[in-house]
Amino acid sequence: MLKKSALILGIETSCDETALALIEGEKILANITLSQAKIHEQYGGVFPMLAKREHAKNLLPIFEKILEESKLKIPNSQFLISNKVEEKVRKILERESELLEQFLEFVPTIEKPPIDAIAITEGPGLEPALWVGINFAEALATVWHIPVIPINHMEGHIVSALLCRKVPSSKFQVPNKFQITKIEFPAIALLISGGHTELVLLKNWFDYKIIGATKDDAAGEAFDKTARILGLPYPGGPQISALAESARKTESYQLKAKSYSLPRPMLKSSDLNFSFSGLKTAVLYLVKKLGALSADDKKTIAREFEDAVTEVLVVKTKKALAQFGARTLIIGGGVSANKNIRGAFEKLAADNGFKLFISTYELATDNALMIAFAGLLRLRANKTRTGKKIMARGNLKIS
Ligand code: KG4
Ligand code: ZN
Repeated sequence: MLKKSALILGIETSCDETALALIEGEKILANITLSQAKIHEQYGGVFPMLAKREHAKNLLPIFEKILEESKLKIPNSQFLISNKVEEKVRKILERESELLEQFLEFVPTIEKPPIDAIAITEGPGLEPALWVGINFAEALATVWHIPVIPINHMEGHIVSALLCRKVPSSKFQVPNKFQITKIEFPAIALLISGGHTELVLLKNWFDYKIIGATKDDAAGEAFDKTARILGLPYPGGPQISALAESARKTESYQLKAKSYSLPRPMLKSSDLNFSFSGLKTAVLYLVKKLGALSADDKKTIAREFEDAVTEVLVVKTKKALAQFGARTLIIGGGVSANKNIRGAFEKLAADNGFKLFISTYELATDNALMIAFAGLLRLRANKTRTGKKIMARGNLKIS
C-alpha cells in the first residue's frame, strides 16, 4: 500500500538538461538541474548524440549529490548486489559503458535508500537522450526492486505550473514544501516549449485532449531560430526576451516598429492551431533586406517578433477557453518564462476573470521536480502504468 508521503526520485533527460529530484510527499529533499546549453551553443541547437553522452556522464554524479543532500547516502563496505543482478544491470546499461562503470562503482556500495518509486520521462523528446534516463532508472529499479513510473514530459510541464510553494506556518518549518494546486475542470493548458506548442483540454486529471497545435515550428523553436538569424547564441528565448525588454524602454522604438512589422500567423484562422515557421522566415527576409544590423535594429526586431508570438498565443488561447467554457488556464514549458508573454496572460486573466497558473521562473524550463510530482500524482491516483517495458517515445502525445 502506498504511503501518502512516498519518496520519489524524478529523472528528466528528454533534451539538454540532466535533472534529478527527490521528493517525500510534497516535501523537496533535493533538486538539481544541469544545463548543457553552453555545450550545444556552438551547434546553434541541441545535438542529440552529444546530449546523450553528457547525460550519461552526469547522471551518476548528480544522483550521488542528491542522495548526499537528502542525507540518504549511507556507504556500506560490502558490494551489495548479487552476480545475477549485476548481470541484469550490465545488460540494461550495455550501450552506456561510462555510466555502467560509474553505476557499479557507486550503487552497490551504498545502502538502499528508502526510495519508493522512480518517475522517468519516457517522451516526447530526443530519443537517444530519453534512453539514457530510462536505462538509468531501470538499472536502479532492478537493484532496489522498486517500480518505475513513465511520465509524459508535457504532463510534467502542466504539473510544474500547478506547483506552489507552501508558506511555512511557523519559522521552525522548512520552506521547501510545495502544494499541487487544486483546480477546477475543464481547464485549458497552453504548453509552449522548444519542441511543442499545443493547447490541451483537461476534462479531469490524466484526461487530456489536444485541441490545437503548431503545424510547423514550436514557439520556443521560433525564438531560437530567430535568435540565430539575429546572431544571438542558443537558447534564443532569453536573449530575444532581453533585447525586446530593452527595446520597450527605448523611446525611438515607436518610429522604427512601423517599418519592421511582422506577420501574426493564423491569427484569424477559425481553428486553434498555430504556425510559427512563416514568422521566422519573415524575420529572415527582413534581416536580408536590412543588410548589416545595428544594435537598435536587433532590439526592434526582437520586440516585434515577441509581440507577434504573444498576440497569436493570447488570441488562440482566449478562443479555446471560450469554446470549452473553461475558467482555468495553465501555462507551462520553457517559453512560459517569457516576461512579455506572462504579462499578457496575466492581463487577459484579470480582464476576463479566469484563474491563471503559470510555472514559476525556476520551474518553467525543464526540471526533474515536475516529473517527480507528476509521478506522485499518478501514484496517488493509482495510474502509474508500471510493470511494462518503458521505451523512449520521441513523438509521444499527451492523451
Ligand atoms: O521546456 P523547455 O525547457 O524544453 C523543451 O521541452 O523544449 O523549453 C525550452 C525552450 C527553448 O526554446 C528556449 O529558447 C525557450 O524555451 N525559452 C524562452 C525563454 N526561456 C526559455 N523563450 C522565450 N522567452 C524566455 N524567457
Ligand atoms: Zn520541456
